[in-house]
Amino acid sequence: MLKEIDEILTRATASFQAASDEAAIEALRVEFLGRKSPLQTLASQMRELSPEERPAAGKSLNSAKARINDLLKEALANLTNKNIGANTFLDVTLPGREPGVGTKHPVSLVIDECVAIFRRLGFIVAEGPEIETVRNNFDALNTPVDHPSRDPLDTFYFSDGRLLRTQTSPVQIRVMESSEPPIRIVAPGRCFRRDTPDATHSMNFHQIEGLYIDEQVSLAELKSVLLAFARELFGPEVSIRMRPHFFPFTEPSVEYDFSCIMCKGQGCPICKNSGWLEIAGAGMVDPEVLANVGYDPEKWSGYAFGMGIERIAMIKYRINDIRLLYENDLRFLKQF
Ligand code: DAH
Repeated sequence: MLKEIDEILTRATASFQAASDEAAIEALRVEFLGRKSPLQTLASQMRELSPEERPAAGKSLNSAKARINDLLKEALANLTNKNIGANTFLDVTLPGREPGVGTKHPVSLVIDECVAIFRRLGFIVAEGPEIETVRNNFDALNTPVDHPSRDPLDTFYFSDGRLLRTQTSPVQIRVMESSEPPIRIVAPGRCFRRDTPDATHSMNFHQIEGLYIDEQVSLAELKSVLLAFARELFGPEVSIRMRPHFFPFTEPSVEYDFSCIMCKGQGCPICKNSGWLEIAGAGMVDPEVLANVGYDPEKWSGYAFGMGIERIAMIKYRINDIRLLYENDLRFLKQF
């Protein structure tokens, strides 16, 4: 019987190694491990052996069964490996896949560029929190109690009375209250207003604020700084203009425009044929604001300005919808 078991094993080994598909392997499983397999037949003949022969034969039968089970597993594993090889051909000469490297968000690019320009003009960067007090965001900035911007329909309030800052101007108050003049800062940051989102409005946007406090500061200095900034940002041919306006915290107040960088002031759809692009607000710091932070308005004077980062990004990169800046669509962001 031992000799027969050996022969069965030899045949099984050769057959499993030659089997090239699942059907062939399954047929061999039935042939060598099924109910009518030669090993089963031998097992049923065990009774006919003498008691001395039986233990060795039983042991041999069991190990043969185990070996054939292993052969089956190996054959199936080989088949799987072969399939993987066929479906995913590995070409080791191909260059590797580069891990994607992120790019800076256009809003960050504009903030970085504005900050770099103002640094060269002698400004340092200041920051303030996004959650502000009513005092810093409105009261100390001389905003009348009935000013529409205070309305809960325009401003996000917390139940404790604080708010999400609606502008970067409260950083002016923080800086003036924590340091002595002369002061020359820019403060970039996130602001929040309860606006209905559309192509030019977002509830969440960014501004960069500027503040200069010293003795005998003039509006002419403000204009020259803004002109230098405009030319650094958009090129030497840009000019600026100021129009009278009103802000509670500056007197006089102005809105300033850059000549349209698209049509060079000739008039085009971007500047609505005016030749000018409205950039933001500015003015001479109101003596009331200086007094609110404990500065002597007789001694100190200054100018302030604030502009929208998204507005500049949209002009610079020709983006026609502010919402593109917040959708995080990689196809859009990868262009910067
Ligand atoms: N805070 C103003 C706004 O959000 C912008 C502004 C205007 C800032 C005049 C200033 C300024 O510092 O002087 O509309």
